[in-house]
Amino acid sequence: MVVTLEPPTPFDQSLLWRLHDAYFGARGIDAWNQGEVPYYSTSNYASARQHAGFFTSLVLSQIEAGRLGPDEPIQVLEVGSGLGRFAANFLRALEVACGPAGAEIFERVRYVLSDYAEKNLREACATSGLKAHVQAGRVVPALYDLRHPDGLRFLDEGDGAAREPRFQMVIANYVCCVVPLKNLQHRQAEGWLEQWVRLEAKVDERDAARGPTALIEEMLTNPTREGMVKNLGIHWEWRPRPLPAVYPKALHQRVLDALVHGLGDATVGYPHGFIEFVDGAAPLLAPGGVVLVNDYGSIDRKELAGLSQRKPQIYGNSLANSINFAVFDAYAEVSGWQLLRSEDKLGSLHSAALRPAIGWTERERDGFRRNYVTWRGGDDILDYTHTARQCAEKKDFDRALRYWRRAIELEPENADHYYRAGDVAIDLGQYDMAISLLEQGRTLAEGETNLDFEFQLGRATCLAQDYPASIGWYEKALERENHPTTWTNLGVLYESAERLADAFRCFKRAMEIDPKYVRARERMQILKDLIWRRKLEEFEGPGVKDPLRALEAEKSKKDEGEARAERPAKTEARAESDDDDENDDENDDENDDEENSDEDEDSDEDDDSDEDEDSDEDEDSDEDEDSDEDEDSDEDDDSDEDDDSDED
Ligand SMILES: C[S@@+](CC[C@H](N)C(=O)[O-])C[C@H]1O[C@@H](n2cnc3c(N)ncnc32)[C@H](O)[C@@H]1O
Repeated sequence: MVVTLEPPTPFDQSLLWRLHDAYFGARGIDAWNQGEVPYYSTSNYASARQHAGFFTSLVLSQIEAGRLGPDEPIQVLEVGSGLGRFAANFLRALEVACGPAGAEIFERVRYVLSDYAEKNLREACATSGLKAHVQAGRVVPALYDLRHPDGLRFLDEGDGAAREPRFQMVIANYVCCVVPLKNLQHRQAEGWLEQWVRLEAKVDERDAARGPTALIEEMLTNPTREGMVKNLGIHWEWRPRPLPAVYPKALHQRVLDALVHGLGDATVGYPHGFIEFVDGAAPLLAPGGVVLVNDYGSIDRKELAGLSQRKPQIYGNSLANSINFAVFDAYAEVSGWQLLRSEDKLGSLHSAALRPAIGWTERERDGFRRNYVTWRGGDDILDYTHTARQCAEKKDFDRALRYWRRAIELEPENADHYYRAGDVAIDLGQYDMAISLLEQGRTLAEGETNLDFEFQLGRATCLAQDYPASIGWYEKALERENHPTTWTNLGVLYESAERLADAFRCFKRAMEIDPKYVRARERMQILKDLIWRRKLEEFEGPGVKDPLRALEAEKSKKDEGEARAERPAKTEARAESDDDDENDDENDDENDDEENSDEDEDSDEDDDSDEDEDSDEDEDSDEDEDSDEDEDSDEDDDSDEDDDSDED
């Protein structure tokens, strides 16, 4: 049954935003780590390096202007910091990639990491990227809700954080798009219209009888339920509304008028909540301090022209709305704030630096140009990783590896790239290179990864014929995950090393975990045959045949021959689940305009299911191929022996 949860309501006041807030409040950093909310494009090291580069220019300029004393701490506030990856990368870039000035600033920086969700903050502070900074007092966690610009509250009230901090920079990274906004149309003939939304839920009869209030209460109590918002019936409509009724505040009326001026009909996603935050942030800023905004959307005001639909993207149970950065031009024009912003229409992420009153110095303009116009590492890394994946999928392994190498150059401390590069190097038959890449990645990951480096190292060392090392890696892989493929691979190696009892235990364990895993059963049978033949040889001397198995073996040899003819050799052994894909190619859908959101959602789903299919297929079939053809030459010898003896 369909129940109306909420009658038509202005979008920014709708239940959707209460669910959004509740989701962020409850989900913690799993929102990002489990792939529900994208973060790679806003938080990757290359893009953090761009911001750290601009920040360095700003601080030098502030020192030159006498607005920052030599002994003062250099304070930064990040709002909506999420899983804290941006902060970790920003600080690292400052420390090592912004020259001696950056390194010096790093020593003096106090980085206030804030979010409105305490769970996010606490979990982010415990990650390997931030833990040491928090202990050193360089990163100070604070609760901060953009909707209350004067409400900064340090998590640990007892720490030495300044009571009234003045920030050189306030960073809002991928936050403008998640603060409630209104979608508006300006029609030349009719004036302003506002987008309203009606919400429905499909429920069974019993739930329908409970009524909308109880259903909403339950949703808000369990806001992390998978697909909860996506499964709602969301119905949009435009309602004529005079602008002063939509926004009694003159600020918004003036910004909107400036924004649509001369465009004729126009459709605008107006982030009034964020604009109010910027406007209210002035007291937080040191003189000359800057609000830096990075977000998705578009930069060309002309793209607002015309009447179009707007819908949020839904990530987890949160909302994200694309932002046209011309809104900051209009705000700057109305408020007198100074603005520098990126201009590349093709950029996947846009940046705007705003500050009240004080004009930009040449150093600052140059810093902005160098870091957001001339060099766009944040975009490059997305393109390299995307292309590398595609090349690997098309089995263009040389090119894939070259792109992974470029990704590593841009993000030398991102363990994922080493993992992917190592995987491709295995496919290329470059086993030593694969081992080196995987070992480096594993060291960088410091155990904080879903990627199974140990398993891949087991494969790579096995293919490089270093069997003792391979056994060691597979044993380590099993400490991470009890995977039947790993047990089977290990069993094969034990068998080759004449550790038959261990091999037996491994195959048995693999079969217990997944009774349908064919390869484990096959390997167990081969092992049993071997043990049986050895026993018979004890009684009857070498070369003895087991007459009972001769017929069977002949048949399976024939089957195997046919199967091999059908399947090309492939070395990849075990595909990771989607979750493992930490740098997933997320920027594609982040960048898409709201008009495409339906399509995007569909295509996301398609992508996922393809991946799943691949991974399932790969998992078994590749393994089998590996085991037969690449993984273990001894093993082949053994089975050949079997065959020979059978034939004999
Ligand atoms: C899309 S995530 C971005 C996280 C991170 N900055 C990044 O780039 O990956 C949005 C973040 O903003 C926070 N947030 C949402 N609304 C907020 C508000 N009104 N005030 C402060 N933080 C907010 C959420 O908790 C979440 O951490």
